[in-house]
Amino acid sequence: MSIGCDIVYSKRLKNRNKRFIELVLTPKEQVLYKEKGLSYLCGRFAAKEAIMKALDNTKSYNFLDFEILNDINGVPYCVGRNNIKISISHEKDYTVAFVIMI
Ligand SMILES: CC(C)(COP(=O)(O)OP(=O)(O)OC[C@H]1O[C@@H](n2cnc3c(N)ncnc32)[C@H](O)[C@@H]1OP(=O)(O)O)[C@@H](O)C(=O)NCCC(=O)NCCS
Repeated sequence: MSIGCDIVYSKRLKNRNKRFIELVLTPKEQVLYKEKGLSYLCGRFAAKEAIMKALDNTKSYNFLDFEILNDINGVPYCVGRNNIKISISHEKDYTVAFVIMI
């Protein structure tokens, strides 16, 4: 088992260009980002950074290898990877994410 965490200062991700968005978010996440806005991007970015920390070998992966959606209760999950447990929290200027990899 391993853990990872990350904190994002939301202004750092504000007004990032399309290229950046496409490197961070899967096509499905990009659609949801357009609906939900900056906090959504910050949540995905923090969660994916936390996943990278929890992985043994970060070099083998990139952000598009992980798609993070929310179930009907709002709980974030990583599509196709039931071994990854995610928690995200937003405050005005910051977003944090914790990940446990089983
Ligand atoms: C779900 C809940 C915990 C979210 O807490 P919050 O302080 O409003 O918001 P946070 O910024 O901390 O958390 C938001 C993130 O929590 C996650 N989340 C949402 N619903 C969730 C749930 N049911 N379980 C776990 N995580 C959840 C999501 O990842 C969301 O971020 P995202 O939309 O970017 O993916 C809260 O709305 C809730 O239902 N609390 C229940 C207790 C309660 O009602 N207390 C009020 C007493 S006055």
